[in-house]
Amino acid sequence: MRLFDTHAHYDSGAFNADRLEVLASMPEQGVELILNPGCDLDSSRTAVELAERFPYVYAAVGVHPSDCGPWEDSWPEELRALAAHPKVRAIGEIGLDYYWKDNPAHDFQQKVFHAQLALAEELKLPVIVHDREAHHDCLEIVRAHPNVTGVYHCYSGSLEDAKTLVKLGWMLSFTGVVTYKNARRSLEVIDWLPLDRVMIETDSPYLTPEPFRGQRNDSRKVYRVAETIAQVKGITLEEAARITLENGMKFFGIEERPL
Ligand code: NI
Repeated sequence: MRLFDTHAHYDSGAFNADRLEVLASMPEQGVELILNPGCDLDSSRTAVELAERFPYVYAAVGVHPSDCGPWEDSWPEELRALAAHPKVRAIGEIGLDYYWKDNPAHDFQQKVFHAQLALAEELKLPVIVHDREAHHDCLEIVRAHPNVTGVYHCYSGSLEDAKTLVKLGWMLSFTGVVTYKNARRSLEVIDWLPLDRVMIETDSPYLTPEPFRGQRNDSRKVYRVAETIAQVKGITLEEAARITLENGMKFFGIEERPL
C-alpha cells in the first residue's frame, strides 16, 4: 500500500531533532508522497529546501492566517520567487482563522487571503485553504476568485458548503480528526463526497489520529485517515489509498510516481 500525505509541516520545530531521519524513513513505511505547505516566508523556504532534498516531497508556499500579522505588500513578490521552483505545486496554506482571539484582525486576514488567491490565479496554481470558524467569509472570498480552485484542508464545514465547493471544482481533504469521537459531521460529508474529490493528510505534527493521540503526528499515521474513508465509502483500505494518492497526484500535477 502506498499513501500520499497531502499536508504535513516538516518545517515545524517539532521535527528539529529528527526531521531528516523521519522523512528518509517514509518510503519504507508505505508513504510514497508528501506535500509540505508553508505558513510564512521562512517556513515556505524550508518547505522548498525539503522538496529539493527528497524526491517524494513537494512544497506549497504561502502565509497562514495566524501568521499573517507581519504581511507587507512586497510579500507576493517573495512568494512568486519561491513558487518558481519546479517542486512548488500550490499556494498554501492560506485562508481565515477566527478561532484564536489574538490572531490578526479579520479584515486584515481577508486582505492577505485575497492577495494570495490573486497570486495563485496569476501563477495558475491551486491553493490550499485553511478555514477555521470562518466558513461564511471564507466561502465568500473563494467565490470572489472564480478562476482559482484548490483544496479545503482539514475540512470542517457543513455538507451544504461541501456541495457548493464540489460544484465549484474544489477538493476536500481530511485529517486524523475523522477518527475522533465527535467526527459525525465530517463522516456525513465523506459519505456524500464523490471519491474523485477526496484527499487525505496528517497536518503533522498536529491532529494525531486515534489511537495515537498525545503523540507527535507524522505521515506514517495517514493510513488511519484512509481507513476511515474506506469504512465510510464501503471500499477496501487499498482502494482508498490508491484513489487518494491518484487524486493528490492529479491535483498537484505530479506525473511520475517517485517509488
Ligand atoms: Ni496545516
